[in-house]
Amino acid sequence: MKTKKIAVVGAGHLGRIHAKLAASIESIEPVVVEPSSDARAFIEKEHGIPTVESLDQIDGVLDGGIVVTPTQTHFSVAADLLDRGCHLLLEKPICANGASATDLCERASQLGRTLQVGHVERFNPAFVAARPLIHQPKYIETTRLTPYSFRATDVSVILDLMIHDIDLVLSMVKSKVLSIQAVGTSVVGPHLDMAKAWLEFENGTVACLTASRCSYTSQRAMQVMTAEKHLHIDLAGQTVNAVTPVEGLADQLRGITSPEEVQAAKDGMFEKWLPIEAVTVTPQNAILAEQLEFVRCIETGDEPTVTGWDGRDALLIAEQLEAVVKTTQSKMDSVLPERHVLHNVA
Ligand SMILES: NC(=O)c1ccc[n+]([C@@H]2O[C@H](COP(=O)([O-])OP(=O)(O)OC[C@H]3O[C@@H](n4cnc5c(N)ncnc54)[C@H](O)[C@@H]3O)[C@@H](O)[C@H]2O)c1
Repeated sequence: MKTKKIAVVGAGHLGRIHAKLAASIESIEPVVVEPSSDARAFIEKEHGIPTVESLDQIDGVLDGGIVVTPTQTHFSVAADLLDRGCHLLLEKPICANGASATDLCERASQLGRTLQVGHVERFNPAFVAARPLIHQPKYIETTRLTPYSFRATDVSVILDLMIHDIDLVLSMVKSKVLSIQAVGTSVVGPHLDMAKAWLEFENGTVACLTASRCSYTSQRAMQVMTAEKHLHIDLAGQTVNAVTPVEGLADQLRGITSPEEVQAAKDGMFEKWLPIEAVTVTPQNAILAEQLEFVRCIETGDEPTVTGWDGRDALLIAEQLEAVVKTTQSKMDSVLPERHVLHNVA
């Protein structure tokens, strides 16, 4: 039975997917809010979902909102929905800046409303399968590369793409960030299109993140090194491989001396000594899983997997990375001419 009226606000690239999936959930009665008449016509024709131009045109009580508008509008749309008493599933990044994100989290908490953030990679079946195998990671490396899509150009690649990996890293490392380094560059502009970041945590974990939206290859992958395992997580292909050294590996391999034994050890390295196991990944539509959790949290009052505060924390790190990129760039700008002169003199 359709018991919850949910507004999907914004029917662009991702909003259309959210709207279609929301309509497939038995308890949701969706209504799409979208200023573009073309986009509204598409939603009505393709998905048979009612649309309106603005929130004010919705009749009756609205239970929740799924906000899929450009990032710069997240705060105003989300605040409006909260004022109307709605629970929120807000696409990532939660807002365009940390102060607005904190404000939203506080408002939602005071009003007793669910605030879930759309860091959908937490529902990626590959990450879901890998997560129970990850205890106290020592090193995490993430790579997120896409060709230029002409979307989300209102924010940097750090807020657009890298923030997914910042959130995944923060979900695995329960420790404060001690130091960060970052570099980046703008290719199409006006914001950063490529960035690399290095995070060190108080507990010793190191994370190295790479993101580009100007890449000639596509990749969404992560490697996690723990004391027990080395995990290769392909978030796009949805596969996970775990390499687990056999017990006593170091002692046994150090004892090998003859060329024949060395060759045999090399030949059987990833079967006998460092066996590779394909971890079972149970397929699921990550966005649908996220929406189903949203409905459950509205009903039960449970905390979502990705809370507003989680979204806020990822955003604060992203903002710091952007600031470090700027500082690094201005250092480079001031140092390069001098080095160039020295180089020529030498
Ligand atoms: N979780 C993910 O993996 C993921 C992927 C893509 C995009 N996103 C996020 O989703 C959001 C939307 O991205 P997109 O690629 O769909 O953008 P888009 O530009 O394709 O679509 C945005 C839509 O919002 C509409 N809109 C603008 N202001 C509005 C308002 N005030 N009220 C209602 N509608 C409004 C626009 O007309 C447009 O149709 C962004 O915040 C982006 O970061 C998340």
